[in-house]
Amino acid sequence: MYQIHSIITDMVNVLGIETSCDETAVGVVSNGYLLRSNIIASQIEIHAQYGGIVPELASRQHIRDISATVNSALTTAGINMEDIDIVSATYGPGLAGSLITGLNTAKALAMSLGVPFIGSNHLEGHLYASWLKETGELPDCEPGFPLACLIASGGHTDLILMENHGGYKLVGRTRDDAAGEAFDKAARVLGLGFPGGPEIQKAAEQMIGENELELPRAWMKGTLDFSFSGVKTALLHMAQNLGIYPLDQCRFTDNQIHSLVNQMSYAFQEAVVDVMVEKVATMAEQYHAKGILIGGGVAANSRLRTKVVDRANIPVLIPPPVLCTDNGAMIAACAYYQYQRGEQYGFDLDVNPSLPLG
Ligand code: KG4
Ligand code: ZN
Repeated sequence: MYQIHSIITDMVNVLGIETSCDETAVGVVSNGYLLRSNIIASQIEIHAQYGGIVPELASRQHIRDISATVNSALTTAGINMEDIDIVSATYGPGLAGSLITGLNTAKALAMSLGVPFIGSNHLEGHLYASWLKETGELPDCEPGFPLACLIASGGHTDLILMENHGGYKLVGRTRDDAAGEAFDKAARVLGLGFPGGPEIQKAAEQMIGENELELPRAWMKGTLDFSFSGVKTALLHMAQNLGIYPLDQCRFTDNQIHSLVNQMSYAFQEAVVDVMVEKVATMAEQYHAKGILIGGGVAANSRLRTKVVDRANIPVLIPPPVLCTDNGAMIAACAYYQYQRGEQYGFDLDVNPSLPLG
């Protein structure tokens, strides 16, 4: 075992690297919660022109951005490389070609510093985003275990029972599209930009007056599973029936199109959010959870955030939006707890694009 040393304080400083998809992200976190830096080199502009992530371009951009992002995370944290006690990186799930860059960078840094290297699960990282705090005080809002967790991202929509640090049980999942994927596809139908989630949210917020459109909700009764492909298809049919799809053949004025797109965005967002809120609240009741935790990019959605707090009668943990989408700080927080419970990883650790949690 390595000896954890700390030079500037008695804090354990973890450098976390996240390159599972299209963000080159590095964060420094002390003692598993204190957020010292969180730097994200976004590739959105590169992929937006294709309307989705192009894996080959993503992996090559990570190579270009990783060194500068590591340096920037250290500078922002105000610490030197030698003050890092543990180096961690996401090793799955995600795109293999993207994961490799972060993983190999973390191994090289840990090797040269002579400190432990930890491989982290991206989904577990999303859960630990809720532990991050910007003040020096220990988190005081932890309701205790078990927690009913919803991870909603571009690749996953999972309900996970977190029984303790490191103890996870998968109790529900999507049977087709992930929630974020559904938002992205719906945005494409409506002629909105990429990524679709924030664009749909923005359009829904611009809706004037009462919404008159309604989309179906797939309740998947008797299960804690999700299905989002039906609502996505229903949206496409609605757009065709209303005459705004395909957009280049549409005869409406810009104002009319905006008004319809805003209403449809609202209807779509409500349909997806309502199911997620109801499912995680039901799960919390079934498993006698002490709190609800929401993570992943879709947790940045303002409507989801409001509705889950309104519905729940137990504490709700949701990170600020910037910590819901992919970031390195969540990986650093997660790795601290992995190290605390004695997990060890060799330098031969490979990427695992379909790494499960629970
Ligand atoms: O966790 P994340 O950053 O990357 C993955 O692990 O996939 O999640 C990205 C997903 C995208 O599908 C994006 O459209 C969605 O999160 N997203 C949102 C919002 N912000 C990001 N969905 C709904 N509302 C948002 N405000
Ligand atoms: Zn993610």
